[in-house]
Amino acid sequence: MGFKIGLLGLGTVGTGTAQILLSPQGRHPLIQELEIYRVGVRDISKTRDVDISLDILTTDLEAIATDSNKNILVELIGGLELARTLILKAIEHGKHIVTANKVVISRYGLEIFAAANEKGVYVMLEAAVGGGIPVIQPLKGSLGVNRIHSVIGIVNGTTNYILARMQQEGADLADVLADAQRLGYAEAYPSADVEGLDAKDQIAILASLAFSGLINLEDIHCGGIRQVTAADIAYTDKLDFVIKLLAIAKRDSNNTNSTIEQLQLRVHPALVPKNHPLASINDVYNAILVEGDPIRQVMFFGPGAGSGPTASAVVSDIMSIVAILKTETEPVPHPLPSYTHQHYCETAPITELVTRFYTRFMTKDILVS
Ligand SMILES: NC(=O)c1ccc[n+]([C@@H]2O[C@H](COP(=O)([O-])OP(=O)(O)OC[C@H]3O[C@@H](n4cnc5c(N)ncnc54)[C@H](OP(=O)(O)O)[C@@H]3O)[C@@H](O)[C@H]2O)c1
Repeated sequence: MGFKIGLLGLGTVGTGTAQILLSPQGRHPLIQELEIYRVGVRDISKTRDVDISLDILTTDLEAIATDSNKNILVELIGGLELARTLILKAIEHGKHIVTANKVVISRYGLEIFAAANEKGVYVMLEAAVGGGIPVIQPLKGSLGVNRIHSVIGIVNGTTNYILARMQQEGADLADVLADAQRLGYAEAYPSADVEGLDAKDQIAILASLAFSGLINLEDIHCGGIRQVTAADIAYTDKLDFVIKLLAIAKRDSNNTNSTIEQLQLRVHPALVPKNHPLASINDVYNAILVEGDPIRQVMFFGPGAGSGPTASAVVSDIMSIVAILKTETEPVPHPLPSYTHQHYCETAPITELVTRFYTRFMTKDILVS
């Protein structure tokens, strides 16, 4: 039996996904059973880097989401409202969903998972966090028995590339950013990366899985890297630290004002000791360090973006669904990791955060006699 895949989007990740699905040789045998039957794009006349028949391309994305093919809809168009609407429509039509869309999942995860649970379909999102790095499935699967203490990630490749180059070259952010844009590592309007918003969406998803509760995006303190200067980097280097944009979700053991267990949820540049495992993550790579009991520490490292790596995560989700569909004789409640939480996690206000800070003062160098 073949499994039909409706693909929304044939851009960076969509193309990588199609390339894997169209060249199954040497990969898992299940891939041979997958067939892309329809692909939704904005512009059919565009030249593509993958050999997709023009006959299956369409600009009618809603038709793919709502047709009678009950198999899998892969949402790779990005953005918010259209993607959310199409995902919900596809669920309503009994389709399983694979998405790489952190923006939609971090804002509408509750609505989407509630709809999916009601319909008995799966929603998979490995590619939405850390690109090609497998972290969602391990958090819910192989690490699921652990009491998680913290999840700390470098989850935005663009800012990591910028900070690493500032560190290596003593350069200013504006110069490195301009170069990153020229090389295609940063977008023309990079605020989602530079302001930390992309990392915020990702830590919301990770925290929800790690701490088994819903996360309100507004509860996450978010500061980007715009204020980091070459001088900050030079001084921290002397102190044996590097500056990284960290996305942090951890149980808050310091806050004695609250009787309920709270989480610290924050994204900001932080000083990382040079001998810390996250200090050596450079360029566009990502890493996610999970600490829990009894596992202690485990770190996931790899390419956090890019066509092939992100598509690897997308196709692994498709395969997980297909593997379950092949063995299911009757519906099993959530055999695959899924959000089923109903309550929101309590978050410690940033004003009550107890931690160490680095401050740098400009002062007049005068001798007071
Ligand atoms: N790029 C990465 O490395 C990466 C990593 C992790 C996660 N993601 C996530 O993966 C998703 C896709 O990202 P991407 O980089 O592949 O995006 P992209 O290169 O911009 O591709 C988007 C695709 O969706 C189509 N599309 C967009 N809006 C449409 C509309 N209104 N109607 C019809 N088609 C539309 C485009 O059609 P045309 O081709 O005709 O323009 C294009 O094929 C996003 O959610 C992103 O956050 C990406």
